[in-house]
Amino acid sequence: MTVQFAELLDSFLSHLISRRDPLVQRFLGGLSGAMRSRLLPTRRLPCERHLAPALAYADGPTLPLLRQFVQDGPALNWGQTYSATDLGRDFLDNYGWVELFGTRGHFENDLVAGGFLVLGPNTLYPDHHHLAEELYVPLTGGTEWHKGDAEFKEQAAGALIHHASDVNHAMRTADAPLVAIYLWRGGPLAAKSTLS
Ligand SMILES: [Fe+2]
Repeated sequence: MTVQFAELLDSFLSHLISRRDPLVQRFLGGLSGAMRSRLLPTRRLPCERHLAPALAYADGPTLPLLRQFVQDGPALNWGQTYSATDLGRDFLDNYGWVELFGTRGHFENDLVAGGFLVLGPNTLYPDHHHLAEELYVPLTGGTEWHKGDAEFKEQAAGALIHHASDVNHAMRTADAPLVAIYLWRGGPLAAKSTLS
């Protein structure tokens, strides 16, 4: 039997393992052995329209993973943490995530959550924080990232962006949409982030 999204999971983990970075390895340390598949219904969101255009802003080692995500996108279980009351309808039309593995995702894991975040062009994801420690790898370039007291700074595709527990962080896109992978560990994996 073919496990649904097995190629996506393989591509996700293979990219991270290939980085040979101690920080990445620390997050991957919680992933022991094969993860059981969890059958989730397809749930679609408006932000999926940014997937195919995102390919124009990606190249290099992150491109194969982005291609796999774009291919699988319409069949995945998309989610949103916020409501229109939190951040407005325009934000919700340009924002969404997919938990690939974790306590709710397409594969079961109680120690580490991993998945994809999408933001449309010209979108600000304002300052927020959460107890879990977080690692992002943007699969597209052109987005500015900010944490703590630092200024916004553009990060290239493939950058490693670490957010320690409860540190404020934000992202701001320009012409390019953002597709990024994330990992969460060391805190409640399904917690709603606190807007600052
Ligand atoms: Fe975060």
